Amino acid sequence: MARQFFVGGNFKANGTKQSVKSIVENLNSEELPKDVEVVICPPALYLGLTVDLNKQPTVEVGAQNVFDKACGAFTGENIAEQVVDLGAKWTLTGHSERRTIIKESDDFIAEKTKYALDKGLKVILCIGETLDERKSGITLEVCARQLDAVSKIIKDWSKIVVAYEPVWAIGTGLAATPEDAEETHKQIREHLAKTIGEDQAEKIQILYGGSVNGKNAPEFKDKKNIDGFLVGGASLKPEFVSIIKSRL
Ligand code: PGA
Repeated sequence: MARQFFVGGNFKANGTKQSVKSIVENLNSEELPKDVEVVICPPALYLGLTVDLNKQPTVEVGAQNVFDKACGAFTGENIAEQVVDLGAKWTLTGHSERRTIIKESDDFIAEKTKYALDKGLKVILCIGETLDERKSGITLEVCARQLDAVSKIIKDWSKIVVAYEPVWAIGTGLAATPEDAEETHKQIREHLAKTIGEDQAEKIQILYGGSVNGKNAPEFKDKKNIDGFLVGGASLKPEFVSIIKSRL
């Protein structure tokens, strides 16, 4: 069974009302391939605006982060129920900027992932190693540890997409080579087969993220275990559309 090509856009903490509006209107004006799933993740403050402006049937909207609890005394948090209430369908969890800057732990990320799924959101679960970890040869170990925290408490992975994003490739302009990324994706899928079962592992979409742009996206085209991309910087630019169309 072929896995559907998937492109996520992570705007991070960028933009204004006006710039978010022009990104969404630009997407609305394009003829996008019907068989590519697209999810755009604006800053939480612009989630409602993005949902309201989006007119593309193949584009859904996601948050970049959610908390692991319901509404209550949690100043400043994004609550999954409120994300759903705004009409968004997805959330990211475990982005490396939250793991490293905000110091979110594997277990906390797993709890957030579980809570989001329980409330009806689909999740793009981000994993990946730092440069030091890569140099020490523990890339797979790190990815496995990050995945295992989730598989310990979640058995049904049908609403999860995994994004492998090596930290050293994010925002640096130094994307992993398609060969290196494919090798890691293959190992991630093999690990998942052992932990969540072959059937689920075969179905799960594994995205590559880290300095993907309109130019390098087509180079990943023939890689069997790379089912799409999670795009940061380039998702703010018109070339995001070329990435969506990179498999045509
Ligand atoms: P980048 O970010 O495309 O700007 O490298 C990717 C990400 O952090 O999701």
